Amino acid sequence: MTYREMSGAALDGELRAVRQRHQELSTRGLSLDMTRGKPCAEQLDLANGILSCVGPAEIAAASSDPRNYGGLDGLPEAKRLFADYMGVGNDEILVAGNSSLALMYDSLVRAWLFGVPGSPRPWGKLDKVKFVCPSPGYDRHFAICESLGIEMIVVDMNGDGPDMDAVERLTAADDSIKGIWCVPRYSNPTGVTFSATVVDRLSSMRAAPDFRIYWDDAYAVHHLDDDPQPLPSIVDACKKAGNPDRPLLFGSTSKISFAGAGVAVMAASTANLKDQMRHMGMQTIGPDKINQLRHVRFFRDMAGIEAHMKKHAAIIRPKFASVRASFEANVSGTGIAALSQPRGGYFFSMDGLPGTAARTVALAAEAGVKLTPAGSTFPLGRDPQDRNLRLAPTLPGLPEIEQAMEIICNSVRLAALEKLCA
Ligand SMILES: Cc1ncc(COP(=O)(O)O)c(C=O)c1O
Repeated sequence: MTYREMSGAALDGELRAVRQRHQELSTRGLSLDMTRGKPCAEQLDLANGILSCVGPAEIAAASSDPRNYGGLDGLPEAKRLFADYMGVGNDEILVAGNSSLALMYDSLVRAWLFGVPGSPRPWGKLDKVKFVCPSPGYDRHFAICESLGIEMIVVDMNGDGPDMDAVERLTAADDSIKGIWCVPRYSNPTGVTFSATVVDRLSSMRAAPDFRIYWDDAYAVHHLDDDPQPLPSIVDACKKAGNPDRPLLFGSTSKISFAGAGVAVMAASTANLKDQMRHMGMQTIGPDKINQLRHVRFFRDMAGIEAHMKKHAAIIRPKFASVRASFEANVSGTGIAALSQPRGGYFFSMDGLPGTAARTVALAAEAGVKLTPAGSTFPLGRDPQDRNLRLAPTLPGLPEIEQAMEIICNSVRLAALEKLCA
């Protein structure tokens, strides 16, 4: 029986029992963390070969000397590998340092200072700049906009991508909307992969001439099962729609090799890349090409990356399964919350009853489980319904996940019961 179907007396009894359980769980003195979308040590160990696969012989065999200055757009063999990875041509990719977030930040700040190809003026010189922010979404995207004073317009994240009726309506009517944040595959945190229709509509919709899609393909090869969800090429779709400069693609090996010492890439039209590199050339003489060479030697090709990611999936699949099993056993029957069904990526997204997310996070903390603060998955940290939670199961071990989930499920129930019985 769901909570909605229970009588008032039955709900009061349930509240007493769940509160009692909360008190018992709180006396265990646990300290568990489900906040961090980080790979665990076992995943990182898979790439340890990177540490020893490049020595003087490999450096001598490289297409250009990776020890020296230069190669602003990356080592040629790294460009070939990552052009394949991003599904673009060799002249549509640049390979940079260790963080795609840094590339996103830099490209947005450059747009702010100098504009992008097609901009009448630098974005920072306009009265107003707005971004469409499908939500729940990635807090660090929203933080970049917040830091620059960009107004964020929330649109719903549906099961097949952003609510495109809303996106099209907004961008057609307002040229101060300059961008949209997209995590198109195994989205953070909902796990959604954009449908072909959404990709087509994003490519062809009416928008400002200097509108850009920030296409953060952070989880391009991070499948949990053997049947990856297809994602059509945004680059091809935008070319076909006559908007070749619209998409800016980002990716990295942060969750393939090492999260702090991987390789990040940006893909875009040649006009966009030329513009980026003009400014990048002021910032640096070139990236760390030795690390790029390490990645090329270790993975070799896309088949190498894909085989490696199967090993990641084997490590984290049981963790995702444990979260799901605990939710099914303890919450789904009550009808008070829905858990996403990710087939890849790093997160679960849970929607509880409106007005309960912050309370759930506080209750879980009392019982020793740290959760991502409620609201983080929305611009300015404000979830209008106070209902969304993000769970990150990759870093803790299985026993910790089981313990944490028992507490999280009980906290979700207690927060809902407090509301229903109030
Ligand atoms: C959607 C998304 N983009 C980017 C990043 C960070 O990427 P990087 O390590 O390449 O800076 C993350 C990390 O969690 C992420 O979830």
